[in-house]
Amino acid sequence: MVTVQRSMRIVIVGDGKMGRAVAALARGRGHTLHAVIGGAENAGGRALTAERLAGAEVAVEFTRPEAVVTNLERLVEAGIPTVTGTTGWQDDLSRVAELVERRGGALLHAANFSLGVHLFLRAAHDLAHRFAARAGFDAFILEEHHAAKLDAPSGTARQLQARMREADDARPFPITSVRAGATPGTHLVAYDGPYERVTLAHEARSRDGFAAGALAAAEWLPGHPGVHTVEDMLFGEGG
Ligand SMILES: NC(=O)c1ccc[n+]([C@@H]2O[C@H](COP(=O)([O-])OP(=O)(O)OC[C@H]3O[C@@H](n4cnc5c(N)ncnc54)[C@H](OP(=O)(O)O)[C@@H]3O)[C@@H](O)[C@H]2O)c1
Repeated sequence: MVTVQRSMRIVIVGDGKMGRAVAALARGRGHTLHAVIGGAENAGGRALTAERLAGAEVAVEFTRPEAVVTNLERLVEAGIPTVTGTTGWQDDLSRVAELVERRGGALLHAANFSLGVHLFLRAAHDLAHRFAARAGFDAFILEEHHAAKLDAPSGTARQLQARMREADDARPFPITSVRAGATPGTHLVAYDGPYERVTLAHEARSRDGFAAGALAAAEWLPGHPGVHTVEDMLFGEGG
C-alpha cells in the first residue's frame, strides 16, 4: 500500500463505474470512505444532509447529467470541497460557480481527469496553430466511447474543439461521436489533405487513469477555495 501524507475522510457520490474505481484507489492510498452514496438513496440530493456529511473533508462526485447540479448545490451548501467528473452539465456551470463563490466553497470540475488528455489538449492547440494558415487540409475530431455513455459529444471533445478554435478561427473542427462497445474513451484529431493525413490521438486504456486524477484532485482541493479546473491543479492557475 502507498502511504499518503495525510489520510482524508472522503464521501463518494455515485456508486457507478467511476465512483467504485475512485473508492478502490482511495482505500488503497490509505483514505477513509466517510460514505458512499448511490442513486437509490439520493433522489433529488436528499441523502446529502449536513448530518450525513458532518466530518467529511472532501467529496468526489461521478453521477449523471440530470443529478449532478443538485448534488453539487447540496455539497457546496454543506461546506464540503467537491471534485466532480460528471459530464453533460456545462450549461449550468456558471450558476454553480456563483454559488461556490458566494459560499466561499471549493469545487474542481473536469470532463476528463487523465494527465495525458491535458497534455494532448495542449498539443492539439499547437497543431491547430501550425496548420492555421495551410489551405488544402480538412480538420475534424472523432471521439469514441462505450455504448452506455449518455452525453455526446463528450466534454473532452468539446474542450478539444474550443482549444483548436482558439488557435485557428477559420476552421470549424466538426465532431463525430461514436457510442459502441466498451472503450473508456478515445479522442482523435485529423488533418486530411489530398496526399496525406496528420493525426493526433489520445486513447484511455482503463478507467483507473481517470480515477487516479480525480483522487489526486480530492487530495489537492481542500485549502483551495474557488472554482478550479484540472489544469489549475496540473499546471498552476492560468499555467
Ligand atoms: N471526468 C472524467 O475523467 C470521467 C471519466 C469517466 C466518466 N466520466 C463521467 O462520469 C459520470 C459517471 O460515469 P460512470 O461511468 O461512473 O457512469 P455509471 O457507471 O452509469 O454510474 C453513474 C452512477 O450514478 C448514480 N446516480 C445517479 N443519480 C444519482 C444521485 N442523485 N446520487 C448518487 N448517485 C447517483 C447511478 O446510480 P443508479 O444506477 O442507481 O441511478 C450510477 O450508479 C458520467 O457523466 C461520465 O460521462 C467522467
